[in-house]
Amino acid sequence: MSIDGKTELYGIIGNPVRHSLSPAMHNAGFATLGMNWVYVPMEVQDIEQGMAGLRALGFRGVSVTVPHKEAVIPLLDEIDPVAEKIGAVNTLVFHREKDGRVILRGLNTDWLGANTALAEKINLQQSRVLVIGAGGSAKAVGFGLVEAGAEVMIANRTAASGQALADWLGCVFVPLDQVASVAADVLINTTSVGMEPDNEGIVVPPSLLPGFSVVMDIVYAPLETRLLREARSAGCQTIDGLAMLLYQGAAQFKIWTGGRPPQLIMRSALEEELRRRAVA
Ligand code: ATR
Repeated sequence: MSIDGKTELYGIIGNPVRHSLSPAMHNAGFATLGMNWVYVPMEVQDIEQGMAGLRALGFRGVSVTVPHKEAVIPLLDEIDPVAEKIGAVNTLVFHREKDGRVILRGLNTDWLGANTALAEKINLQQSRVLVIGAGGSAKAVGFGLVEAGAEVMIANRTAASGQALADWLGCVFVPLDQVASVAADVLINTTSVGMEPDNEGIVVPPSLLPGFSVVMDIVYAPLETRLLREARSAGCQTIDGLAMLLYQGAAQFKIWTGGRPPQLIMRSALEEELRRRAVA
């Protein structure tokens, strides 16, 4: 990649953000399509100052991650109705008018990540899906699944937040210690349980796994979590944490470029980056 005066600027804002895998994924995609674009991680503490900086510097598109997904909303000129409904934005588009004015639009592609990954394995419209967790990831995943016509159940360690998310989604809440009583086709872990260095952590007892057709984890370090390893030996189909990251990123790529994201190459770039970090 050569950077020159015509290079278009893209990136990701968050705090922390230096660990993000998105630069590897998007830069690989841009290079494959022969675009003179670059995507950089930017640690932003003050979101108001950060947004003013991005506007002034001529950025064209930016991903937003924790903790700015909600706080960025009042700083937008336009918001996509789905992002407004979810109450979180992970994608920004800076549209430059002929008179130099910048129109900043916010969208959300997080909710598409799990849907797209699951739709490759199962017909969501006929599936019962048990989502473990009630944070921002569970909200996006749950929203997408309800949109796709799945029957969603939320299980969470803390009843109050689990019940609140279930009410928002219009679905059932199950306390985490009672998931054995639930029958479902798909299990999705949206918590950090099993993430390095908690490699042996697992969010439900392994004895429950044979009851599911598909088990998905949003944790990607390690790539095969204990949950996925146990699910594989129990005969379930598995979806790893890079899938959600890839598909939400592919949807961003499509918004920014208007073209088809080179998903295989973007996926390889994510895996390569994880391998590179493992030996670093
Ligand atoms: P994110 O925005 O990535 O979803 P979050 O908002 O911090 O992250 O949400 C983390 C979720 O993981 C929560 O549902 C949390 O459960 P609580 O609401 O009970 O805190 C869940 N979680 C985190 N660690 C957990 C653990 N050790 N066991 C069970 N659930 C856990």
